[in-house]
Amino acid sequence: MLKICMVGTGYVGLVSGACLADFGNKVVCVDIDKERLEGIRRGVMPIYEPGLKDIVERNYAAGRLSFSSDIGEAVGNSLVIFSAVGTPMHADGSCDLSFVYKVAEDVAAHIDEYKVFVQKSTVPVGTSEKVGEIVEKHLKKKVEFDRVSNPEFLREGSAIEDFMRPNRVVIGVESDRAREIMAEVYRPLYLLETPIVFTTIRTAELIKYASNAFLATKISFINEMADLCERVGADVGEVAKAIGLDRRIGSKFLHAGVGYGGSCLPKDISAILHTGRNVEVPLRIVQATHDVNESRIERLFEKLRAGITDLSGKTIAVLGLSFKPNTDDIREAPAMRLIERLLEEHATVRAYDPAAMENTRAALGDRVLLCDDAYRAIEGSDALIIMTEWNEFRVLDLDRIKSLMEGTVVVDCRNIYKTEEMKQRGFEYYSFGR
Ligand SMILES: NC(=O)c1ccc[n+]([C@@H]2O[C@H](COP(=O)([O-])OP(=O)(O)OC[C@H]3O[C@@H](n4cnc5c(N)ncnc54)[C@H](O)[C@@H]3O)[C@@H](O)[C@H]2O)c1
Repeated sequence: MLKICMVGTGYVGLVSGACLADFGNKVVCVDIDKERLEGIRRGVMPIYEPGLKDIVERNYAAGRLSFSSDIGEAVGNSLVIFSAVGTPMHADGSCDLSFVYKVAEDVAAHIDEYKVFVQKSTVPVGTSEKVGEIVEKHLKKKVEFDRVSNPEFLREGSAIEDFMRPNRVVIGVESDRAREIMAEVYRPLYLLETPIVFTTIRTAELIKYASNAFLATKISFINEMADLCERVGADVGEVAKAIGLDRRIGSKFLHAGVGYGGSCLPKDISAILHTGRNVEVPLRIVQATHDVNESRIERLFEKLRAGITDLSGKTIAVLGLSFKPNTDDIREAPAMRLIERLLEEHATVRAYDPAAMENTRAALGDRVLLCDDAYRAIEGSDALIIMTEWNEFRVLDLDRIKSLMEGTVVVDCRNIYKTEEMKQRGFEYYSFGR
């Protein structure tokens, strides 16, 4: 049993902390947001994540998991300190490391014996060295510590499963002592024969960005194929299925639509491009991936305008606000971009999402009309845009929709419905790459 401190109790910190406690470790999750911690103690999860409440409550009740805003005590009592705070995007596209550096200062001030300081946030290559310098500078007395990079690959919506049964764990270390301690942290995964990739810190940092850049490239690739399919009369769904059956390609991340969003891919793609520019290595494929993605919202508008030339004064229903199903995360969600654009064009927006209503209300206030369910959102609309493939949007009552809508335009950004069927029911139906 190891004593672990997790600084940052967000999507990654809370899931990782709860799962590491479930492995049998004693974990204290730290955050500056006291309300968030108080809520968790009462069983109110700060994020929507299937299975999270159960694992948190179970480990909290067993005394293996606790929550604190006192970083000094938490660091003092732990051998391994993880940093899992946000690394958002600066206006110039580079990675904002201010939270990471602040944590390094706060942690250093409370290190009084040997500790392993693990970076779990996604940070550009070389950050660990800078963090090490900050820690050295803020130590109250001369003690040894080891730096480790342990990037996280979990996906929102299946985060618990991803953490408990990862495809691999990447650990960048510089000392045998830290390597042994990290092996102990992930010991239960050895039993599942999970590949644990030990590497240098710089390589570990880059693996995370390379991984996200590759995934994003697959998405932009299939989106370009979707445009081509439309022009030449082919079906991108079948293209994706057939090429995905080739194990060298794989079927994942080949869904054509409005492009990627979320709290990771956009900012990470932007950050790796920034790194490339800094060291004068042009990342042409990643740049193209980014450019294609940026243009997707325009493709959506082309489709919408094919149905409604002038959006001013029109009512548009938007179903799905989070960047993907099974999460309430709206950071960089294509739906947010869409709504901003619709509002700029003086359309009225009625919207619904099964989990992201609260976050959307906080972000957009009363500029959009948030409705209690999908059918309420659709009522009186001139067009319906399906942005996320939540299960409940896959089986909508199409006749009811038809009678509720004022117009007939449906833009299905996830290719959920069948073109022929939608046409037969009298919709002016648009999807991607079909
Ligand atoms: N969200 C994901 O799916 C995901 C997946 C893999 C990697 N990552 C990476 O993990 C990192 C964290 O992302 P996230 O989505 O969990 O962020 P988040 O915004 O959900 O959580 C960050 C938490 O850190 C807290 N915090 C900020 N400053 C602090 C401080 N000084 N001391 C203590 N707590 C502090 C915030 O209050 C917040 O609760 C990012 O680098 C991200 O790129 C995220």
